[in-house]
Amino acid sequence: MGSGGGRVAVEEVVRVRVRMVGGWYCWLLVLLASPTFTFGNRIGIGIGSRRSLLPNGLALTPPMGWNSWNHFNCKIDEKIIKETADALVSTGLSKLGYTYVNIDDCWAEIARDDKGNLVPKKTTFPSGIKSLADYVHSKGLKLGIYSDAGYFTCSKTMPGSLGHEEQDAKTFASWGIDYLKYDNCNNDGTKPTVRYPIMTRALMKSGRDIFFSLCEWGDMHPALWGAKVGNSWRTTNDISDTWESMVSRADMNEFYADLARPGGWNDPDMLEVGNGGMTKDEYIVHFSIWAISKAPLLLGCDVRNMTKETVEIITNKEVIAVNQDGLGVQAKKVRSEGDQEIWAGPLTGYRFAVLLVNRGPLRNSITAEWDDIGIPPKSIVKARDLWEHKTLNTQFVGNLTASVDSHACKMYILKPVSSS
Ligand code: GLA
Repeated sequence: MGSGGGRVAVEEVVRVRVRMVGGWYCWLLVLLASPTFTFGNRIGIGIGSRRSLLPNGLALTPPMGWNSWNHFNCKIDEKIIKETADALVSTGLSKLGYTYVNIDDCWAEIARDDKGNLVPKKTTFPSGIKSLADYVHSKGLKLGIYSDAGYFTCSKTMPGSLGHEEQDAKTFASWGIDYLKYDNCNNDGTKPTVRYPIMTRALMKSGRDIFFSLCEWGDMHPALWGAKVGNSWRTTNDISDTWESMVSRADMNEFYADLARPGGWNDPDMLEVGNGGMTKDEYIVHFSIWAISKAPLLLGCDVRNMTKETVEIITNKEVIAVNQDGLGVQAKKVRSEGDQEIWAGPLTGYRFAVLLVNRGPLRNSITAEWDDIGIPPKSIVKARDLWEHKTLNTQFVGNLTASVDSHACKMYILKPVSSS
């Protein structure tokens, strides 16, 4: 698009935010001051480009799988990756859609070989990545790997791909890699909007369809330019295993809701469910917000050793179905009053996913109004409780009220059946 393109994006953000609570105006000011907007033209923001996608045919629904970072950090080896693949199958998780097995940072030697190729770390990945990919593929799963749009990755224990993009993309394709997470550490100071597309082009030329995950931490609002560049983009810096960290990432990610779509998703970082830092209810909120937000569902726990509670949360088929719904529209926080929030978004078949979240310290009742959700006010609505796995006996008109525990949620699918 021409220079109007940037302005259209700004107007859209304004339109979305004026409906929201006051605090968001700070965000708006930050955005308006951002170079992304000033130079929107140059990086191709606009209606035309916003609708175009990375043409690799991937990510029609948000990716699902596992990533090594949240639980293992740098302490990974091929045994852990293989056992994780085994566990994804034996627990039934792979059948539910968790198919990506993603190796994060620290898998390579610090030095490239004499031809400039990345070398898997000899002490921890002695069989090499190709053999790991063959193993993972033999289980019906896909293998993901990690690199960086800089000279070294964030751990500084291995090289990044800056200046080696084509060579590394070819290496990944030759190994049978299916997913690349691309980090942003130790770079040369040029903008991500310059460095990331170089890897995009390299992947497109590699001869293999590789999901491209932009891990740029939201610095330059990748939701505004990421769809042409990758299949998902981090909207936040790193999550940690606490309630505060989790809900703040949910909020930052929600800001970009209008910009997610099949083929390109907002990514508020990987799941912490099962890592032990939150209560069961808090993990249910975590999983529910990620699901309704159409976030990647990348498990970050040790799937070889999960509690019954963890399994119960991450195998909730009804919640997963909301995440994987074909319409691909990210829910928004349609109302918040103090600590009480209503998140909602449309699903296929004229249905609506609704999440009532109580962020406060006391049990409270929360009401979802049809008006806030986009359902005609007089509609009679059937409600299915996705954590109780029950269709409620009552039919609702105008609104639905539920009592919600502290740091807990209720999640429903609403289906209008007729008008009264
Ligand atoms: C960054 C990323 C994390 C993880 C680490 C690895 O912090 O945001 O998700 O990949 O690097 O070092």
